[in-house]
Amino acid sequence: MKAVDLFSLKGRVALVTGASSGLGMQFAKALADNGAAVALVARRADRLADIKKAIEAAGGRAVAIEADVTDRAAMLRAFDATEAAFGTVTILVNNAGIAQSSKRAIEVTAEEWRKVLSVDLDAVFYNAQEAARRMLAAKQPGAIVNIASVLGFGVSKGVAAYATAKAAVVQVTKALAVELAFKGVRVNAIAPGWFVTEINDKFLAGEAGEALKRAIPAGRFGKDGDLDGALLLLASDAGSYITGATIVVDGGQVVMITG
Ligand SMILES: NC(=O)c1ccc[n+]([C@@H]2O[C@H](COP(=O)([O-])OP(=O)(O)OC[C@H]3O[C@@H](n4cnc5c(N)ncnc54)[C@H](OP(=O)(O)O)[C@@H]3O)[C@@H](O)[C@H]2O)c1
Repeated sequence: MKAVDLFSLKGRVALVTGASSGLGMQFAKALADNGAAVALVARRADRLADIKKAIEAAGGRAVAIEADVTDRAAMLRAFDATEAAFGTVTILVNNAGIAQSSKRAIEVTAEEWRKVLSVDLDAVFYNAQEAARRMLAAKQPGAIVNIASVLGFGVSKGVAAYATAKAAVVQVTKALAVELAFKGVRVNAIAPGWFVTEINDKFLAGEAGEALKRAIPAGRFGKDGDLDGALLLLASDAGSYITGATIVVDGGQVVMITG
């Protein structure tokens, strides 16, 4: 089969959380460019409206849905609205995420811990659960792609809540995958290295960023498009026998031992 057919998403319906900026915006565009109708979900409606326009101008199909991923009722409405526009969601990209302050673990408050875990882990699970329930009810195969991080494998100082959530995303991906594989629903994750987005642009702009860049074997941060291949593999029939996997896309960062 030709690659263009193997990776085609024609007839698929994707819901991307955190589609208003950064990696989520790029994921939404890549899915739409390859044939999927895409629901763009985030809290900033103005941003979503602009991205919907850009996707449509490029010949794609999109709806913009304002929702907070930690609001389960709002997310149910987002799935309903996507279904009404395009049909059952058959690709979920669980991408919305927040960073934590760089506080040391002993200073992290209960509120901050809960906030980070709510967005970066709880919402990932509940959205995956909802998407899978709907795929099973509609007897449709599907693909769930969770966005983890290299901080799900290793840690630095000041990331206790975030890294814990991302490690759990890797693990919940496996747990969902083994239960859903027989029903045709695949669940995988992508663990990006450093990409300059709103989540980290201030931090990466300074000397800390330069030091981090020097530690990446590829010698650069990730850029737009670097995650498209992994996403399209996991979302399309090209990845039809891949489930429970986490693909690390980090320019070699996570396997590097300094020295
Ligand atoms: N950039 C990196 O280096 C990197 C590396 C590894 C993993 N990641 C992961 O990649 C994902 C995307 O991050 P990014 O780098 O693209 O950062 P970003 O530009 O800050 O994007 C984060 C997205 O999440 C959305 N979001 C945050 N809280 C939300 C909530 N409660 N409800 C709905 N949407 C919410 C934001 O939209 P609204 O504010 O409009 O709601 C935004 O669209 C995150 O899971 C992050 O942990 C990023």
